[in-house]
Parts: sequence; C-alpha cells; structure tokens
Amino acid sequence: MGSGIAQVSAAAGYETTVVEVNQKLVDRGLGMIAKNLGRLQEKGVLTAENRAAIDARIHPSTDLAALSGCDIVIEAIIENLAEKRVVYAKLDEIVQPKSIFCSNTSSLSITEMMTATKRTDRFFGMHFFNPVPVMKLVEVVRTIASDPTVYQSTVEFAASLGKTPAQTSDRGGFIVNRLLVPYMLDAIRAFEEGVGSITDIDNGMKLGCGHPMGPFTLLDFVGLDTTYYIAGIMFDEFREKRYAAPPLLKRLVMAGWFGRKSGRGFYDYADPAAPKPLDGLLR
Ligand code: CAA
Repeated sequence: MGSGIAQVSAAAGYETTVVEVNQKLVDRGLGMIAKNLGRLQEKGVLTAENRAAIDARIHPSTDLAALSGCDIVIEAIIENLAEKRVVYAKLDEIVQPKSIFCSNTSSLSITEMMTATKRTDRFFGMHFFNPVPVMKLVEVVRTIASDPTVYQSTVEFAASLGKTPAQTSDRGGFIVNRLLVPYMLDAIRAFEEGVGSITDIDNGMKLGCGHPMGPFTLLDFVGLDTTYYIAGIMFDEFREKRYAAPPLLKRLVMAGWFGRKSGRGFYDYADPAAPKPLDGLLR
C-alpha cells in the first residue's frame, strides 16, 4: 500500500519522500509505481512529460532521517502495534514537531500509537484502500486528543490527493472494516454451512448486488492472513461473535494459504487469469 500512497501523493503534485527498510523493498515499491504509471501512459491518460514530473517528485531512501522536513508522514508498515510504536518513537525525535503523523492502519488503535509520541494532537489515521491508485475512499480518523483545526487540514489533504475523505473516530475497524469484515466472515460461514459453492456465493454478490468482486475473490485479494488478523483485533475490541474468525479461515491461514499473494486461498491462482475455486479441498 505504501507504493500506492506514494504514487497518489506524487501524482497530486507533492514532493514525496518514501522510506523502506532496505533497498530491495525500495526497488520493489518503485517497480510497482513504474508499472502503474506505465499502464496509464499506454492508455494515453498520462503524458511522458507528466510521468517524468511524477517520478522526479519521488525521493526514495532507507533512512528515516530523510523524513525530517516532511509536513505530513504517512506510515504503512506491518500491522503490529509494538513495531509501529517503536517507529513512531523514533520518528517523533527525527521529524519537525509541527508535522502531522498519520497511520494507514486498517484496524489498530490510533490512540495506542499516538502515545508513543509527544504530538498526540496532530496524530490521525489515514486509511487507504486496495488498490490505492484506484479506490476513491480514504478514512481520516480522529482521536479524543485531536486538534480540530489540524484534523480538518488533514481531511483537506486527503481530498487534495483526489480521494473522498470519510471522517471517523478511533473505533476498531473504523467505518469500512466494521461493515466489511463481518460480511466477509459471514460468506465463509455460509460456505461452511453448505449454503452455496464458492462460485455461487461470489456470483450472488457480484451479479445479484453489483459488487465488483464476490466475497471470496475479495478475501483472496485483501489476503486471508490480513483478514484473520483484522478480525482478531476487532473481536478483541468488541467481543462480538460477528467479528470471530470462522474455523475454516483459521485453517487456511495456518496452512499458509493467504489468497492471491501466496497462490492459493479460496481459489487456486496457478493460472492467475482463470482462478479455480477450491470447494473440493475446503469442505
Ligand atoms: N493498481 C493500479 N491500478 C489498478 C490495479 C492496481 N493494483 N488493479 C486494477 N487497476 C486499474 C486498471 O488499470 C483499470 O483502470 P482503467 O479503468 O483506467 O482501465 C481499473 O483499475 C479496472 O481494472 P480492471 O479492468 O483490470 O479490473 P476490474 O474492473 O475488475 O477492477 C478492481 C479491478 C478495481 C480491483 C475491482 O475489482 C474492485 O474495485 N474490487 C474491489 C476492491 C475492494 O473492495 N478494495 C477494498 C479492499 S478492503 C481494503 O483495502 C482495506 C482493508 O483494510 C482490508
């Protein structure tokens, strides 16, 4: 998601510093941006001149110190609270005090992250959706410690990226995952109970409700490990059954079947153009 956020920021005209933990990951992120911009150029949406200007606004680094002068820092590291707190404590020392910090977390508590810093009044969630260059929504999450003026300017920044900001407060899953996660978990329960096949449940929501992807295609796209992890955080927060991971989801994750990225989940992606549903193995 970091590369997508960097792409939309640079495309919106902002000088964008990107920091990764090593050069290999820097190169991978830049490669993803190059692929996306190349596609836009081929389609004639982006001129060579504009593409060169976007590329020139992206400044890669492997050193957090490169972020010292940034006005806003958007963190999209691994979804692990302890690791995020370590990074934020370091950033708080490095980055100028007036700068805003935002986390792209999908479900961790912004409040628990912000207390690793001294800038609790200018610390927000800024949750993008996959694929970042395409999905129009950004959730901008305030906490009880937020400065209302700084929060509004952060909402305006999200809008300036060409996104529609949704304003929300720091509750597990914010708006979208509060609704989306129980929906995806329910699809798995429906399959477990024999309500329908993977294909029929997917088609039900795709063709019957006009969703771009059915729930199993979406689960494999988001990542089963990611969904399992988010569900766990939301279950801890609310203690409600609708956020509890169904046994089949747990088994898939334990087996390393994470969906599209690992080649197998509810579908087999040996031929990515024609994923094969795995009903037979999963029943
Ligand atoms: N990066 C950049 N652009 C991409 C892309 C990617 N990874 N994937 C597709 N696109 C672009 C394509 O270039 C294409 O652009 P044009 O319309 O300009 O030609 C456009 O998106 C549509 O792509 P396709 O025609 O290839 O395929 P599609 O019509 O099936 O759309 C999709 C693909 C946009 C992913 C669509 O299936 C979709 O919207 N799916 C639902 C995605 C979704 O729900 N995302 C949210 C997940 S939840 C989350 O992210 C948060 C969380 O916390 C879990």
